[in-house]
Amino acid sequence: MKAFSIIGTTAAFIAAAEGAGNVGNPLATSDQAYLDALAIKINNAYGFPVLKAEAKAAYQLAHGSDISDEASSTLDAAIDELAFSAIQKAVNTDVYHPKVYWVDAGPRSWFGLDVPGGRYSYDNPDCIYRTIPIDSSLSYVVKGFRHTPGPADVTFSLISDPNSQTTVSYLGGSDLAVATDGSYTITINSSSADGQTNHIQSTSDAKQLLIRNNLGDWVSQKPDNITVEVVDDVSGQDPISNAAIASAAWWNLQESIATYGAGTLGLKTYLNAVNTLSTPSQSSTLGTLTSQASSFGHFNLSADQALVATVAPGASSYFVFPVTNPWTVSVDPGNNQVSLNNKQAVANANGTYTFVVSLQDPGVYNWISTGGLHEGTIMVRWQGLPTSSDSSNAVSVAVQVVPLSSLASVLPSGTRYVTAAERKAQLAQRAAGYSSRVEL
Ligand SMILES: *[C@@H]1O[C@H](CO)[C@@H](O)[C@H](O)[C@H]1NC(C)=O
Ligand SMILES: *[C@@H]1O[C@H](CO)[C@@H](O)[C@H](O)[C@H]1NC(C)=O
Ligand SMILES: *[C@@H]1O[C@H](CO)[C@@H](O)[C@H](O)[C@H]1NC(C)=O
Ligand SMILES: *[C@@H]1O[C@H](CO)[C@@H](O)[C@H](O)[C@H]1NC(C)=O
Repeated sequence: MKAFSIIGTTAAFIAAAEGAGNVGNPLATSDQAYLDALAIKINNAYGFPVLKAEAKAAYQLAHGSDISDEASSTLDAAIDELAFSAIQKAVNTDVYHPKVYWVDAGPRSWFGLDVPGGRYSYDNPDCIYRTIPIDSSLSYVVKGFRHTPGPADVTFSLISDPNSQTTVSYLGGSDLAVATDGSYTITINSSSADGQTNHIQSTSDAKQLLIRNNLGDWVSQKPDNITVEVVDDVSGQDPISNAAIASAAWWNLQESIATYGAGTLGLKTYLNAVNTLSTPSQSSTLGTLTSQASSFGHFNLSADQALVATVAPGASSYFVFPVTNPWTVSVDPGNNQVSLNNKQAVANANGTYTFVVSLQDPGVYNWISTGGLHEGTIMVRWQGLPTSSDSSNAVSVAVQVVPLSSLASVLPSGTRYVTAAERKAQLAQRAAGYSSRVEL
């Protein structure tokens, strides 16, 4: 079965993983435990110190010269997570022995493993990102099971590169046929769909299936169960070696420096004026979806200021307003209300949503905490949008900075405020939903 032993207790944690299935966490699979352990092993064996130094320099350059001590203090951790993400992308690249791997998540302890965070480039705290390696010479069957209630948005993107994440082929949640018992089967191979539902056509460019499950209500909504099998006979294929994985990780990190340093952090984020958000735009590169519009920005607030943002959901079925640190990594999103989506937030009378971004709790239901940071980044996302270029998505976001003391005068009439007890309950629900993702 497993080609090489990962750590001394392989059998023990595989057994733990199999036991974990009993409590019904779709993320706590034996493949997940195996790949987490392997990623840790590669991370310990190869530190990538030279590339990490290059990544750090690229992030500093993208930010601009005025880097505060506060911003500096989180940079090394962000680069460590970037490097771990490069390894996580590499451990699940064996197209003959594909697994389903949950990536781009915060640090966690499970299966007896201390798994480092692997977050990068605006990780969305709502989103469970899972990957499956794909080669167009092979035929794959992906089986899913939709819990009730399932995710707010589900997408399957076949991408040509795990770093630039350019979409080759795409199956949106609204086009996925799910049986009444919750099950679904997706085929992936080089044949055209030919009128078949749930088929994704691969091309020679295709490298990986990137599956997004966006959870609106973190407590009730569960990610889908997902498994993968190769249809062809692959019994003659040796598993990919650790040296090949390390080499792939090296390339991923190298590419990440340009893609997420100069690209996401520089061009998309810090080129905008401070305390503004870019006009939402739809594109299919840099990890965004064809059915997604995004708006980027960075903020710099004093403790007595707030950034007030009003979002129009337009034609989207799901949107999220998340704040991240200066290096686009979420700040302890289970314990801080650093994001709210359209399910978690309350709407204005006219259907827009107004958020208050601040260090201190302003007592508003739709508070987006900066996690105590004065400076950070924002990537607002709207999903489930029409993909044809001639249709209007009608999404927008407008922002202004105001002193906290005059907040009441700029908030819409009818704004919902919370008592301390209501805030406590809101945060407790968030924490419970977040921690259920790693329950064994
Ligand atoms: C979904 O996955 C969970 C966790 O592995 C498992 O307990 C459950 O039986 C699965 N359900 C289906 C229908 O496959
Ligand atoms: C943030 O704002 C403070 C106070 O206005 C200012 O001193 C500092 O230079 C700003 N930092 C950045 C990175 O713009
Ligand atoms: C691809 O999958 C479809 C659906 O199962 C099947 O009809 C077709 O023959 C497959 N093509 C290849 C090249 O395996
Ligand atoms: C909807 O209400 C918000 C909050 O009062 C306001 O900022 C926005 O301009 C309104 N939008 C429309 C289209 O009326």
